[in-house]
Amino acid sequence: MSEHAEIILEGKSYKFPVVTGTENEKAIDIAALRSESGYITLDSGYKNTGATKSAITFLDGEQGILHYRGYPIEQLAEKSNFIEVAYLLIYGALPTKQELDDFSGKIKMHTLVNEDMRKILDGFPSAAHPMGILSAMISSLTAFYPESLNPNQTKEEMDLSIIRLMAKISTIAAWSYKNSVGHPVNYPKNKLDYCSNFLHMMFAFPTEDYEINPVVVDAINKLLILHADHEQNCSTSTVRLVGSANASLYSSVSAGISALWGPLHGGANQAVIEMLEAIKADGGDSKKYIAKAKDKDDPFRLMGFGHRVYKNFDPRARIIKKAADEVLTALGINDPILTIAMELEEAALNDPYFVERKLYPNVDFYSGIIYRALGIPTDMFTVMFALGRLPGWIAQWKEMREQKEPIGRPRQIYTGETERNYVDIENR
Ligand code: CMC
Repeated sequence: MSEHAEIILEGKSYKFPVVTGTENEKAIDIAALRSESGYITLDSGYKNTGATKSAITFLDGEQGILHYRGYPIEQLAEKSNFIEVAYLLIYGALPTKQELDDFSGKIKMHTLVNEDMRKILDGFPSAAHPMGILSAMISSLTAFYPESLNPNQTKEEMDLSIIRLMAKISTIAAWSYKNSVGHPVNYPKNKLDYCSNFLHMMFAFPTEDYEINPVVVDAINKLLILHADHEQNCSTSTVRLVGSANASLYSSVSAGISALWGPLHGGANQAVIEMLEAIKADGGDSKKYIAKAKDKDDPFRLMGFGHRVYKNFDPRARIIKKAADEVLTALGINDPILTIAMELEEAALNDPYFVERKLYPNVDFYSGIIYRALGIPTDMFTVMFALGRLPGWIAQWKEMREQKEPIGRPRQIYTGETERNYVDIENR
């Protein structure tokens, strides 16, 4: 046997193969562990567990490296656009001009949603959080396209489901916002590019002309690219796990949206701005909040800080911080929240608590500041993250299907009562 790991249990030795990825990351393949030894591995939060082999995204948290299909995130954020990156993630290669035109043209053709979906939207109270609406509406696409439920779709059928989802999510997302503010929805304008069309559906009024600002379009493209995939994170693992039961693309992505909503994950971008607002309202004393974050008896955490895999810096945060400066300058915005954010960052980066635990600003620390500057309302921030993450979810779901992965089903170590007899209610 070539390189292997040896585990000794109860005096008996077991050998397991070592698996090496293309970037030389290593794993011990313990697939035969239980059948051979009766043992399982225990890894709460999957901190050391590889759930799959994947050729989509590579990240090295120690070095702060992020590649989509081999291309560094810095190059894609600078040179590409969101639809091209979506194609790259989903189909594995940068598209030719023809392929890109074709992909983008098909997405434009499918931006309209069935009018009955508007009735579903009308049923939501105006105070409903747009992430809840988005998740429900994406799941309800299965009702309009029941053929998507077929786990054995042909390649062409799967491609159509993918195109529909890419196209309709921005219409649904913008409509969920319009619903929350009680404004009439805007229908998509297919002559516009993806990001401009989204802005039009979000911000235009039937009564006024709406000018699309190229600075805003560029910033949205960049933000969506930076969020487009992040290998086996919480929502992506959810999408793969749900999909592994042969659930449809739409229901799998709907589950991913729910996972993303959590404030420890994508919901952090909303939580960051709410935290910065609260600090401002409380007199702007960032040191007080640093102390709260360090106090183990206080549930407060510095939102936008720390990451499960980045233990040096988050490359996305670097790009976003620079983009935030550019956007605020270009739009002539002087946001006092930015000053608080910079003070907080400075204080945390020099504090031993954060340094020892390798807690650095993550992608969400600055993304909310840009979204605010672009006029996106706070409770839409996580929806923006979902729009960006969609191609990643699709690519990962598709890969899981193409690799014919088995249903995901972790095991556990049971810590409850051992067998005991039922006690009648009068004797309890
Ligand atoms: N503020 C204060 N302390 C923190 C923070 C924070 N933001 N994050 C981690 N810690 C501490 C934590 O208390 C623990 O301390 P100790 O070792 O003394 O018990 C230590 O650092 C390790 O933390 P952990 O919770 O074990 O780390 P994790 O890998 O399980 O959690 C995280 C990662 C992102 C959930 C966490 O850092 C966090 O809650 N951050 C704030 C929420 C946030 O910004 N989330 C967005 C992540 S980036 C967007 C995305 O990809 O979803």
